[in-house]
Amino acid sequence: METTLIILKPDALQRGLMGRIISRFEDKGLQVVGAKLMTISQELAGRHYESHEGKPFYDGLVSFMTSSPVLVLALRGIDAITISRGMMGATFGSKADPGTIRGDFGVSNSFNLIHGSDSPEAAERELGLFFAEGELQEWTRAIEGWVYDCSGDTPE
Ligand code: RTP
Ligand code: MG
Repeated sequence: METTLIILKPDALQRGLMGRIISRFEDKGLQVVGAKLMTISQELAGRHYESHEGKPFYDGLVSFMTSSPVLVLALRGIDAITISRGMMGATFGSKADPGTIRGDFGVSNSFNLIHGSDSPEAAERELGLFFAEGELQEWTRAIEGWVYDCSGDTPE
């Protein structure tokens, strides 16, 4: 099982899209193990996007991400990182395919609604930035045995 860090960005909250975006992940079968409504500080935005520091879009990105509240989620499932990235769609709303979150809900390139970790290493680092030890909930869903085939040694 993988856990990925998802951020519903300020535009998703301002546009009232939280519920519909979370529903997509729940409908897919990913499990919510963490959720936090917060306003990201400049310092945290800088650490989160440190790999983009110095790029032309960096200042605007930090300004956008700190401009109003976000919803931070930790989602768990087999291949949760790749599955979530696929559901998000291409970075720019204008390029994202229909059927994806960015493709269905936005047209903007910089206001692109959602962040998702892009690798296991990034997920571990980002989960550590946004969730303290013990904040993720270890819980068994009542539906687990119907989301995955749990008849073998590992869920499939
Ligand atoms: P994210 O990190 O937010 O999940 O997005 P991503 O992986 O799809 O894209 P990434 O390359 O990591 O870029 C981070 C965010 O920076 C903005 N961006 N602007 N103008 C540009 O060329 C440009 N490139 C990236 C986007 O808001 C993107 O989500
Ligand atoms: Mg990225």
